[in-house]
Amino acid sequence: MAETSIEVYRTALGRQLCADSRQVLAQLPDESVDLIVTSPTFALLRKKSYGNEEQEDYVEWLLEFGNVAKRTLKDTGSFVLDLGGAYQRGVPVRSLYNFKVLIEFCEKPGYFLAEEFYWHNPAKLPSPIEWVNKRKIRVKDSVNTVWWFSKTEWPKADVTRVLAPYSERMKTLLKDPEKFYRPKGRPSGHDIAAAFGKENGGAIPPNLLQIPNTDSNSHYLRMCKALGRESHPARFPADLPKFFVNFLTEPGDLVLDIFSGSNTTGAVAENLGRRWLSIELDRAYAELSALRFLEEWPEHEVKALMERLSQGSEEIHPSMQLSLLALVNNGA
Ligand SMILES: C[S@@+](CC[C@H](N)C(=O)[O-])C[C@H]1O[C@@H](n2cnc3c(N)ncnc32)[C@H](O)[C@@H]1O
Repeated sequence: MAETSIEVYRTALGRQLCADSRQVLAQLPDESVDLIVTSPTFALLRKKSYGNEEQEDYVEWLLEFGNVAKRTLKDTGSFVLDLGGAYQRGVPVRSLYNFKVLIEFCEKPGYFLAEEFYWHNPAKLPSPIEWVNKRKIRVKDSVNTVWWFSKTEWPKADVTRVLAPYSERMKTLLKDPEKFYRPKGRPSGHDIAAAFGKENGGAIPPNLLQIPNTDSNSHYLRMCKALGRESHPARFPADLPKFFVNFLTEPGDLVLDIFSGSNTTGAVAENLGRRWLSIELDRAYAELSALRFLEEWPEHEVKALMERLSQGSEEIHPSMQLSLLALVNNGA
């Protein structure tokens, strides 16, 4: 494959590359990226079709990405890493790999843990079958750890962009704060009533994100089927990267997904007016992810485009380095 063919396609705001993201990160200018939000190949014991590193080597492997990524982040930049839990081989004992990743990222490249998040997927199927379904000695594991790392102690962040809907109780309170909540002096001397009765446009969200991963009929899946191609088996729901893109970036900022899979992140970034760069090692997944941007297209045109992509004829840039620089410096 010619070197220039690492670019698979481009959109108004971003580029999908097919490459090892360590190599691409090494080419990016210093302090050019606002947010990396990503979900790497997990350290699961059961091998998935997209491949897994051995659990023991996994932390070291992931650390290589953390090392090369840090230089590319702006001082206000963040690195959000979604990691699913895992069991040790053959015993009902959890792996500590995701916690090791957290500690190593902070101790070695020197990221800061801005906050730890937990993604609860209520639709997760019970596993591993042996411990959960057969022996019934462990409960369903439906929470991923999502580490929000930052390059400095002061990453860009604005909670007002990710406010959650008010609870019914809070809505009642806001209608008539005086009646519902009688301000009381506190022993500390602070009077908190007035602040609680104020309408802020929504509630401060917690660090537990409840997002079902239930997509079974999206345009992406329907088109994969129509094309007779295998869809990506480990997609995260768009609402996960959407929360962090809204929270940690502003329109025009640059968002990277260094394990982009079906490019959920790129599609979210495009819709939110952020520039994006997505990197995926597997060419077939990278090509198929173009479907995320073709929702309005008639099926025969989608098929024709996918055919051209698989022949590499959509590559129009003579120099990958130049187009990367254009993306990070001037916008797409
Ligand atoms: C869990 S999937 C990401 C899925 C993605 N979040 C989505 O919603 O579709 C991880 C992806 O990382 C890719 N990958 C593994 N090693 C890589 C590397 N060195 N550089 C780029 N991508 C890599 C795998 O091929 C796999 O598709």
